[in-house]
Amino acid sequence: MEGKDLEFAVNGERFKVNSVDPCTTLLDFLRLNTPFKSVKLACGEGGCGACLVILSKYDPDSDQVKEHSINSCLTLLCSVNGCSITTSEGLGNAKNGFHPIHTRLAGFHASQCGFCTPGMCISLYSALSNAPGPGGGLTVSEAEKSVAGNLCRCTGYRPIVDACKSFAADVDIEDLGLNSFWRKGDSKEAMMKSLPPYNHLLTTFPEFLKKKSVVTNVLDHSRYRWTTPFSVTELGNVLDESANSGGGSLKLVVGNTGAGYYKDDEEMFDRYVDISRVSEMLVIKRDENGVEIGAAVTISNVIDALKEEGSSNFKKMAAHMEKIGNRSIRNSASIGGNLVMAQSRKFPSDITTLLLAADASVCILNNRIIKKVKLLEFLDSPPILNSKQVLLKVVIPAWTADTGLLFETYRAAPRSIGNALPYANAAFSARVSNQTVDECLLAFGSYGGDHSIRAREVERFLTGKLLSHSVLHEAMCLLRGIIVPSKETSHPEYRKALAVGFLFEFLYPLIDNNNGHSNGHVDDPIESLPLPFLSSSQQVLESNEFNPVGEAVIKAVAALQASGEAVFVDDIPILPDCLHGAFIYSTEPLAKIKSISFGENVTPAGVFALLTFKDIPIHGQNIGSKTVFGPGPLFADELTRCAGQRIALVVADTQKHADKAAKLAVVEYDIKNLEEPILTVEDAVKRSSFFDVHPMFYPEPVGDVVKGMKEADRKILLAEFRLGSQYFFYMEPQTALALPDEDNCSKVFSSSQAPEYVHSVIATCLGIPEHNVRVITRRVGGGFGGKALKSMPVATACALAAHKLNRPVKMYLNRKTDMIMAGGRHPMKVTYNVGFRSDGKLTALELTMLIDAGTEPDVSPILPRNIMGPLRKYDWGALSFDVKVCKTNLPSRTAMRAPGEVQGSYIAESIIENVASSLRMEADEVRKINLHSYGSLRKFYKHISGEEDEYTLPLLWGKLEISSELKKRGEMVKEFNRCNVWRKRGISRVPIVHQVMQRPTPGRVSILSDGSVVVEVGGIEIGQGLWTKVRQMVAYGLGLMKCNGSDELIERIRVVQADTLGLIQGGFTAGSTTSESSCEAVRLCCVILAERLKPTVDQMMMEKSGSVTWNLLIQQAYAQSVNLSASALYTPEFSSMEYLNYGVGVSEVEVDVMTGKTEILRSDIIYDCGKSLNPAVDLGQVEGAFVQGIGFFMMEEYTTDEKGLVVQQGTWDYKIPTVDTIPKQFHVEILNTGHHKNRVLSSKASGEPPLLLAASVHCATRSAIREARKQSLPWNCSDGNGDVSGGDFELPVPATMPVVKGLCGLYSVEKYLEEKICGK
Ligand SMILES: Cc1cc2nc3c(=O)[nH]c(=O)nc-3n(C[C@H](O)[C@H](O)[C@H](O)COP(=O)(O)OP(=O)(O)OC[C@H]3O[C@@H](n4cnc5c(N)ncnc54)[C@H](O)[C@@H]3O)c2cc1C
Ligand code: FES
Ligand code: FES
Repeated sequence: MEGKDLEFAVNGERFKVNSVDPCTTLLDFLRLNTPFKSVKLACGEGGCGACLVILSKYDPDSDQVKEHSINSCLTLLCSVNGCSITTSEGLGNAKNGFHPIHTRLAGFHASQCGFCTPGMCISLYSALSNAPGPGGGLTVSEAEKSVAGNLCRCTGYRPIVDACKSFAADVDIEDLGLNSFWRKGDSKEAMMKSLPPYNHLLTTFPEFLKKKSVVTNVLDHSRYRWTTPFSVTELGNVLDESANSGGGSLKLVVGNTGAGYYKDDEEMFDRYVDISRVSEMLVIKRDENGVEIGAAVTISNVIDALKEEGSSNFKKMAAHMEKIGNRSIRNSASIGGNLVMAQSRKFPSDITTLLLAADASVCILNNRIIKKVKLLEFLDSPPILNSKQVLLKVVIPAWTADTGLLFETYRAAPRSIGNALPYANAAFSARVSNQTVDECLLAFGSYGGDHSIRAREVERFLTGKLLSHSVLHEAMCLLRGIIVPSKETSHPEYRKALAVGFLFEFLYPLIDNNNGHSNGHVDDPIESLPLPFLSSSQQVLESNEFNPVGEAVIKAVAALQASGEAVFVDDIPILPDCLHGAFIYSTEPLAKIKSISFGENVTPAGVFALLTFKDIPIHGQNIGSKTVFGPGPLFADELTRCAGQRIALVVADTQKHADKAAKLAVVEYDIKNLEEPILTVEDAVKRSSFFDVHPMFYPEPVGDVVKGMKEADRKILLAEFRLGSQYFFYMEPQTALALPDEDNCSKVFSSSQAPEYVHSVIATCLGIPEHNVRVITRRVGGGFGGKALKSMPVATACALAAHKLNRPVKMYLNRKTDMIMAGGRHPMKVTYNVGFRSDGKLTALELTMLIDAGTEPDVSPILPRNIMGPLRKYDWGALSFDVKVCKTNLPSRTAMRAPGEVQGSYIAESIIENVASSLRMEADEVRKINLHSYGSLRKFYKHISGEEDEYTLPLLWGKLEISSELKKRGEMVKEFNRCNVWRKRGISRVPIVHQVMQRPTPGRVSILSDGSVVVEVGGIEIGQGLWTKVRQMVAYGLGLMKCNGSDELIERIRVVQADTLGLIQGGFTAGSTTSESSCEAVRLCCVILAERLKPTVDQMMMEKSGSVTWNLLIQQAYAQSVNLSASALYTPEFSSMEYLNYGVGVSEVEVDVMTGKTEILRSDIIYDCGKSLNPAVDLGQVEGAFVQGIGFFMMEEYTTDEKGLVVQQGTWDYKIPTVDTIPKQFHVEILNTGHHKNRVLSSKASGEPPLLLAASVHCATRSAIREARKQSLPWNCSDGNGDVSGGDFELPVPATMPVVKGLCGLYSVEKYLEEKICGK
């Protein structure tokens, strides 16, 4: 049968395709076959939102266009036949004018690296488009939720939410944060007027598509088979035809979102049948018997339909479904697809649990016969997936007389609406009269069983029973025996406890409630309800002393980032002969590599070469990275030294082929005659396996610890805790593109924070002089330290392959490989003795630390210095330490934002918490007592302490106490805890002292003949706003010449990409100070230029009676051959290159004792930025760092298995904060502390230090848990399961939900009931 062309439109442009692999995703097509690069690939599994586009469908019957967002990384190209696609640059762009969404995001300073920004714009656009009111009647709440499924690793979300809210019909404009549209004091009306006007119009649906009729068969059928039946009869024919023609494999497709979860499925099917247009499967039918929902109906449409139903129970189901995935997933995901995944592949579904509780049935088409079965029977039957059986519809019976029927649903997930699968879910219905259960239906799911279940034994037990504490207790004991997670399930006991807690929440309120009413939740007084919206405030002081430095200038290229036109490495157009690479990594921690081959010795499709260390050129070296501490290998040689180590590079014609081939590679290992690998720091100690630490990086002890211990009247001895790792989760994975050039040269585009080092490593690896290599970096899609050392092997491998194969070679690491190789933050074990007096004064601290550095030195030897910096923030009396940097057979750890500093600062807090706990004092009091005086600061920090008036910490400490109303809220927290059993609050204030160091940095400023200015700097724009500050500084520096027109100079300044042959000695962009150093470098250039121009200026001033325009001056200077390009290398003064930063944070949290969920109710931060170079940029740094710190302290688990291989491999199991996990109220003040004579125009750093303040959230959580444990002490009236011992405890980092629940008590509800029973 002849297949027709696929036809669709992208941004109004027509595309026709006849021959395409049906597995091709829309994202693949857009990025490889169109100029539209705003769709970014950051996860490929539906988990981040970077790839979103608008899909518009035309309905000829109603002549209406419907549009919504979808994930292009999951949507198959063939399924968009006849549709129109709009990307962010399709909404607006630099040439045709930006869309108001773009300009508002830019104006609210809502982008940093910009990699997530186009996806954010699409989410917001889709929300506006689907808002009920005409012209976008979006509410504030909907605006907030619109980006709940999008990940951003840079901004901390607050400014993004503000930009979204600016479109809401019910917004109070004064609630919106810092922006470039209005000034403080403007009237509300003026504020509204200043926003870029917006009037929602749907995207234009091209006429040529309106006329097109979609046909059943598309594509060249002799090669690829994609069929789109439009009715069940046609579908039956297709299935019959497939069976008659000898079967062959067949895949039914609806939204294809299942591919996001089962992403390792690489199976190619003989035939694809798109059932998303089968009319009967798209119907939602209601009658007195209930609701029938076609299996191809999307979850979004199911939600809308359920909301329209009269029954509140349907509404509750809809509310639960709104927590599934994210909006764009729900827009494509079908209800049937979800059920089939749950039935056939044990997918932890929410929907099956809801439908079980609703006693639903399903209809299955099998061999033209339609069978209706109960959902439970369906779930228990053999898998139907790919068996040519089709799930046609779901039937939910009518809720007979809602009155008296209780229905509730429950779900505990790491992020409540931010795209996270639940640890467990439940849905219950029950009819209860006079406290007696007449009937009930209890469904549980997602806990790690085969599929959702009904707890029939418990149902039977409860039916007919008069509810009492002991009945409930018995039901729970029964339930624990029924909820049995499979062996491989994480946190099995936690999941059981959740299930028990859900049932308790459902039934307990009925026990003392004779009316039989329940809202399904215990402990839900008004004041504990979550605040409706996020709210925030920012206080920043703009200064015009060095105009335009000090102004909250809008970020350079922010609108371009929003439209997606800002070019990242993967957006650079490639030549047709470009090859692509993928790493093969080791799965053994220590083994000889015997061979590397492909399965069955068949070279996979598209593979060109397999490179190993043997392919390094004869004069080159096997080097993939380097620091002053030594090099790291590009590939393992005969021996692999950790799981995750690179052992080879597959080079293929496409990235897909390269990735697939790398997966198919078979590596034979031999571990004979090898020592056991070192997989723990304890092993390293036993085997004395350490990296050397130069005395320069090993600070001196302070005072006499023996004496300090003697002065102590209390001690904590040999206390111990561990800190885990953290993954960068930059949105843009590691990437590079290498082009071979004439005369044995190599040009490499690298997404790197250290192009100079990338350059040098490539030259050494290839054995060529450094002038043969050129590394170019324009911008980096998030780095956080992960694109320093770890970017080097990626670029080097590309360069090696390009050199060897004489073809361009590109590499774009998939998220899994990236996560396996990244190494991340250093985990460590801490042991300490601390001495203190009964009044809380510390007298001595002795620390022992074992840092897991992994297999290569990387930058790990600096860790002792970094840890000890912030740890000295308190006056310990005396301080001594023994820090070992352990060499293990684990992936080498590297610098992640505030490397060592965040741990050092936290270690201090953890010790303070324990001291306070043992003294029964408030931790805040102990902190206050031990804050440094200027005298003790000098003792601990010596010359770095600066002048006395620069020690602003006591000032910040006091100011924040007042502005955050700490005392009053502390009392309110106590009162709250007194009144509530199942929710506990904690509040905590934490100070930071963070040492940074400036490094030499180059810059060059060149003035072109038309007066425009081009600037090069050593620092890389990684989202931290470096380019913006540099532009401001150049405008300031050149503006000092006071020419007419120099006020607008900033608009004429362009900072360009780093090019390692254009400007040498760029060094690392790291350590928070690269922006200020780059600024100082360009200021020096401006001074040189001003000096060179002075004679011309003076002469012209005389001739033109004191007034010279900038353009004329430059014309004249060109005529006089004045050298208008100046470069400088800023080398900071040794005596003042290091300095201290100060800040204080207060956080208040609420812990749900039942689930372990921690909600951050409010965070207040005050941070000393000196005189901020750009308060908007610094505010973004403070907020973004703080939220990344929340991830470290509360959410992100980055662990290794027994072989040292990283366990978390994508967005499904690595959870960074989303909009729903940031503080509900977020108040940030950037303090302008005036003159700092040794700093760049009095400014101070902001990139890393604020991350440390997130420890306040962790400490507040500890405080809330302490309250929960305290209250549960009297509950231990029987001896079983006494899992909470009250007093001292250590709260691990990260304090995830299972961790918090474990400390609050996995058996807390049983204990509570036992106490009630005993009490009676
Ligand atoms: C990022 C993300 C987050 C998610 N979060 C959640 C969550 O929190 N809770 C939850 O419950 N679910 C969640 N899901 C799962 C989601 O609901 C399912 O992926 C989706 O419903 C599947 O529908 P689909 O139309 O995309 O199916 P497809 O991916 O097209 O199909 C899935 C499988 O089912 C088969 N199939 C589909 N329809 C039928 C049918 N009618 N008859 C027979 N076989 C069929 C297909 O052949 C395929 O093998 C999430 C998914 C993603 C990607
Ligand atoms: S790339 Fe598609 S959701 Fe992440
Ligand atoms: S700006 Fe959002 S990920 Fe960088």
